[in-house]
Amino acid sequence: MSTPRPPLMATSPILLIFCLSLLAAASTTSKAISAHDELINYGFPVGLLPADIDSYTLNHTSGAFTVLLGDKCRVTLPPDNYLASYSKRITGKIDGNRIAELDGISVRAFFKWWGITGIRSSGQDLVFEVGMVTAKYPSKNFDVSPPCEGLRSSSS
Ligand SMILES: *[C@@H]1O[C@H](CO)[C@@H](O)[C@H](O)[C@H]1NC(C)=O
Repeated sequence: MSTPRPPLMATSPILLIFCLSLLAAASTTSKAISAHDELINYGFPVGLLPADIDSYTLNHTSGAFTVLLGDKCRVTLPPDNYLASYSKRITGKIDGNRIAELDGISVRAFFKWWGITGIRSSGQDLVFEVGMVTAKYPSKNFDVSPPCEGLRSSSS
């Protein structure tokens, strides 16, 4: 006659899973928040910044931020294949759903580079400000961080 399994045998895998999930939770909360996470926190899609970021600072009181890239970076933005250029150092002020005093991101249009001075998020849409001119695009176009193109190619 077989002896019934002691209850501990049955519960220990559950305990183990419980402990593992506690550990997992602890490690995710202690993980440093990335610049991309901060964008999400402020209601912006991650695709506003390229994938590779060296470091960033954000003052949660003033909203002033600095993002440092390893090098300047060019990306192509869908769906219209606009060429965008990021300086090594991007600065601005983020608060609520608005990025203001932006410096370091330009887009190529009408045969000219235009510095984007501000970005507003209305949830569905992003409104890019170039001085007094604005252009609206669906936020979902920016759900993925674009990779930098041809970092080592030309001298530009
Ligand atoms: C953050 O911004 C606030 C308000 O402008 C300022 O008083 C504070 O010194 C800043 N903190 C840092 C670390 O720069």
